[in-house]
Amino acid sequence: MNLFRGRSLEVVNSFSVAEQMYLYERTRELKLKTLRGEDVDYFRIQDNALSVYIMFLEDSTRTKESFINAARFHGARVNVFNPHTSSFNKKESITDTVKMLFGYADRSLFVVRSKEEGLCSWLDEALGDYARQIGYPKPSFINGGDGRHEHPTQEFLDEFSFLEQREWDNSHIHLALVGDLFHGRTVHSKADGLRVFKEVQVDLVAPKELQMPASYIDKMKRNGFLVREYASIDEYLASGATAPIWYFTRLQLERMGDEIREKAQSLRAAVSFTREFLPKIAEGTRFYHPLPRHREFPTIPSFLDATPLNGWDRQSINGYFTRIVEIGLLAGDLGKDFSGSSVQEETYADDFVEEVAAERAKPHNYKVGIKPVENGIVIDHIGKGRDLALIWDHIDKIRRIMNLNIRSSHGVYHSNEEGIYKGIISLPNVLSFDERQIKMLGAVAPECTLNIIHGSKITKKYRMHTPPRVYNFREISCKNENCISHPSHCEPVKAEFIRLNSNTYSCKYCEHPHSFHEIWDV
Ligand code: CP
Repeated sequence: MNLFRGRSLEVVNSFSVAEQMYLYERTRELKLKTLRGEDVDYFRIQDNALSVYIMFLEDSTRTKESFINAARFHGARVNVFNPHTSSFNKKESITDTVKMLFGYADRSLFVVRSKEEGLCSWLDEALGDYARQIGYPKPSFINGGDGRHEHPTQEFLDEFSFLEQREWDNSHIHLALVGDLFHGRTVHSKADGLRVFKEVQVDLVAPKELQMPASYIDKMKRNGFLVREYASIDEYLASGATAPIWYFTRLQLERMGDEIREKAQSLRAAVSFTREFLPKIAEGTRFYHPLPRHREFPTIPSFLDATPLNGWDRQSINGYFTRIVEIGLLAGDLGKDFSGSSVQEETYADDFVEEVAAERAKPHNYKVGIKPVENGIVIDHIGKGRDLALIWDHIDKIRRIMNLNIRSSHGVYHSNEEGIYKGIISLPNVLSFDERQIKMLGAVAPECTLNIIHGSKITKKYRMHTPPRVYNFREISCKNENCISHPSHCEPVKAEFIRLNSNTYSCKYCEHPHSFHEIWDV
């Protein structure tokens, strides 16, 4: 059984650590044989029924051209899609466009670069369903870089280059990430890609405006990395404990807001290497860069090209070899001898609604106005412990999302604990909620209780917990404007969020973090 074939490479974690190591071992073998002039047919797919669509909706040299050459190595049909002369100009969606292209080949693999984040995750899902409907083999999607999100194939060639420098010793790595860590997707992919090393120390070198987003620093820490932060190369060198591997990035001017772009020159100075720094660099240090470099203001200046610090030229060549292997794994038989652990599909238990013992005999004091509730539903403990204004807002949100435009009363009250408030909504004459309404309430108001009252007694009681994922609601959307699921893109993507921790939900597509309340539109 081939565990790779037909899969997609949307993010670094689309491959398990064992699978990533397998990719590096195969690449090492291919590169060695190629450099020795040996036969490399074993690595070729040799199937011209395979169409590789090169779909770059953003500019590129390395990723695009190395994939074109890698696809040609395999003897595949290569189609280079031109977005500038396509029906995008007639406002066709990306989803419809890819669906058309998919229909023109026996089997297809798409390499996609876009501003829209999470696009490959969406296409894999949507086109996977479509392929099943029409009885075609499922296409594979390779993310060639999506906005500020990820660049998994760059990450794989970077890690391959680091392993090569460390002579395949993956026991430890100490790495400095220098440059635009806020907007750069290649450094964001490091939060997962560096897991192929058993011990990881990362030094982040960037001024405040270009700092790594907190969500990626948190991820690095969750992955057990030791993380240190510095505002400039000057400050980093003064620490006296620099890394043997420096990974530079350019300032991503095209992704910056005007306010930061105006400061670009001074920000760039903090993360650009200069001649004065040379004596402070330890022997054996290597510099890497995903490239391109800015020809006028490079963070790694060209006087370093002919020095032993230059690791970036070899790194960019490695992109050709890693990408041959990636295509061979997803669309060929290259991975058939892999026997390690693969990625486990996530499952989410819908057990966030807990039925608890009802206090049948106990009298209660829920009221509608001044009248006790005899029969009906009472939603209690809404937003318990939050600020008064937030509890009122929460009550309002529940009423609008659940469409509770019916006779009722609601308010903010003292809980049994001193100084702690909670919201209550009483719905007389609503005798029950169906399963969907109960789950909806759980998703809108986790930690509330739902009391069903008959004959002035609580006959059923449910306690809600924060759900592991929130989906299937018209009233939710990702708030990252670059996300493929953001309503402004008019793609047929339904928002979905996965819980990361007690109050952080990550968009299924772009992985942008949201607080529970940010998810909701109303
Ligand atoms: N490193 C990288 O992605 O380069 P291109 O933008 O030229 O593809």
